[in-house]
Amino acid sequence: MGGCSSAVAEEPLLGNPEALLQQAHETDFPEHGKKMRTDVSFKEAYELGQPLGWGGFSKVKLVTSRETGERYACKIIPLPRPGHASNEHQCTRTAILQEVDALLELDHPNVVGLKEYFVWAGRLCLVMELLPGGELLDLVLEKGPFSEDDARTVFRQLLEGVDYLHRMGVTHRDLKLDNLLLARPGDISAIRIVDFGFAKKHHAADRLNNPMKTVCGTPEYMAPEVIRRPKRQRLRGCCNWQQLAAGLCGTGSPTPGPASTSRPPAAPGGAGGSTGAAYGPACDCWSCGIILYLLLSGGEPPFSDPSQPRLLRTIVAGKFSFGAAVWKGVSKEAKDLICRLLVVDPDERWDCRRALGHPWMRRQPSSPTGGSSRSRGVSSGGIKMPLIAPAPPAQHQGSTLAAAGAPATPPAYGGKGLAR
Ligand SMILES: Nc1ncnc2c1ncn2[C@@H]1O[C@H](COP(=O)(O)OP(=O)(O)O)[C@@H](O)[C@H]1O
Ligand SMILES: [Mg+2]
Repeated sequence: MGGCSSAVAEEPLLGNPEALLQQAHETDFPEHGKKMRTDVSFKEAYELGQPLGWGGFSKVKLVTSRETGERYACKIIPLPRPGHASNEHQCTRTAILQEVDALLELDHPNVVGLKEYFVWAGRLCLVMELLPGGELLDLVLEKGPFSEDDARTVFRQLLEGVDYLHRMGVTHRDLKLDNLLLARPGDISAIRIVDFGFAKKHHAADRLNNPMKTVCGTPEYMAPEVIRRPKRQRLRGCCNWQQLAAGLCGTGSPTPGPASTSRPPAAPGGAGGSTGAAYGPACDCWSCGIILYLLLSGGEPPFSDPSQPRLLRTIVAGKFSFGAAVWKGVSKEAKDLICRLLVVDPDERWDCRRALGHPWMRRQPSSPTGGSSRSRGVSSGGIKMPLIAPAPPAQHQGSTLAAAGAPATPPAYGGKGLAR
């Protein structure tokens, strides 16, 4: 992953120590420590509560402000010293601080809000808006295929949020159902994009000359251009996900990816590493296409294969179908929108703004409740909708979605993938 702030340890040691300390303090954190709280310690400001979630590199806990009594979610990530990598995943400080860098300026109804952050006991503590409604992934696993109206309700918010991110110069790079949270339980009208752990902010100065190259994300949601290697590095007979992410998929002898600038390969909840071909924010629009497909199919991904090398090849080829029974009742317009987003060539792929203007997005809800015969008790705007038809049985395999209640097969690459 690319850098977001300079590492203090690499600065030349000139001038008096106090000035140096000040300089270090200012340059070490994104935007000179904006939103970083230093007047009190984290423990003085907040009371730690129950865990809300775990990721590959972090814990998220409920916290309560000692000043106001308000509740927030706090993401706690081990923060290594400048120039050092942390834990078994070899995350660098620079890579970890990218999450802060991406979140700092954001203010949108469909993007999680960062209130402030602390550096406490060698950890980065991001105090964020509390989203008690859980992950959209759980709702899809529980409810099965969304009605077109419900899928549109969710998808509009996703497109608005991603369009905003792109206008702010932020590419998320790990959009997936697990990273879309509901602000209120069961209410699909308040969706927030979370987890900026792989996000990349392009500051105005480097927008053109610093393209993204890191292979990162979650395989089933990754765009072809993120996976694809530059021609000279392509391997015959390559490769599996771990190799790809670790930078082992070049020709000739394997060379590990640059640990200093990457999240680790095969880590739960995502993976990263390696320098691939340059790509841009359109990779998020591909992931949006995957998410729309998943919403309408009830969690059956367009690209899935128990073999990771084959999965990656299918994605790069961009071959998918609407052959499953669940697609029989889905409109041509919905399928058309998916086809505009799951386009292999990122230059031909529709961006979020254009997708928002697609005829399917402009359709009026087909019933007063916004539901349809596929709807299974999802609530919109706080109104509980009736459970009308049972969801078709889930047919999952390998690293794809596991049906709710059924044992999930852990993906072979060690990522959370789509399974629970
Ligand atoms: N603001 C929040 N409110 C409530 N729960 C949250 C919040 N942010 C994250 N979580 C929970 O913690 C999990 C992990 O958080 P995430 O930011 O995705 O971390 P990771 O990068 O480790 O995947 C989420 O999937 C969700 O279940
Ligand atoms: Mg996550």
